[in-house]
Amino acid sequence: MTRGRFITVEGGEGAGKSTCLEFIRSHLEASGRRVVVTREPGGTPLAERIRDLLLGHHTDGMADDCELLLVFAARADHLSRVIRPALARGEWVLSDRFTDATYAYQGGGRGLDMERIAALERLVQGDLRPDLTLLLDLPVTTGLARAAGRAEAPDRFESEAAAFFERVRSTYRERAASEPQRFRVVDAGQPLEEVTASLAEVLDAWGG
Ligand code: TMP
Repeated sequence: MTRGRFITVEGGEGAGKSTCLEFIRSHLEASGRRVVVTREPGGTPLAERIRDLLLGHHTDGMADDCELLLVFAARADHLSRVIRPALARGEWVLSDRFTDATYAYQGGGRGLDMERIAALERLVQGDLRPDLTLLLDLPVTTGLARAAGRAEAPDRFESEAAAFFERVRSTYRERAASEPQRFRVVDAGQPLEEVTASLAEVLDAWGG
């Protein structure tokens, strides 16, 4: 059986990821794909518990390496119990974030060594990489203003300063520029109908 395709969606705060994921899922399903929608950190019961640890506030904080290893621990469970089996069944996997987020947030945001992230990526994923990564890009000030309108209290990442998100955004954009065959950058600052129209165009042109 042909292996399914692995598509990831990335972006900073307030990029409209959830709405875009729903749109992408229905667009792919309309063209006859069987799609598993999942997210990181998370995607399995255990990885969702790790997500709570990562996003929750801790009185004594969290060491950067602990954060990095928790992200990859969650990913190891997610890969072996959801992503790899679905791809092997020929289904398409659509993940709300994956390892590019680790490069952007832990590498760019926290300033951790990219080589160490790459070493963990090889250890946990072997040679599995997304087939297509959609980067929903928008200026940090626009994204933070959108996110500020939400009712929930900010999580541990959302509580970071604008400079952190500037580093996250630059890292995403640098990665997109260095791997143009895998990445497609979509301007998420446009009105939603234009964002979804761009996504449809990108998906149809890519084809899988
Ligand atoms: P989200 O559901 O809003 O995308 O929240 C997930 C948060 O986790 C987001 O702030 C980015 C962060 N994150 C990392 O720091 N590293 C990672 O590898 C992943 C997947 C997410």
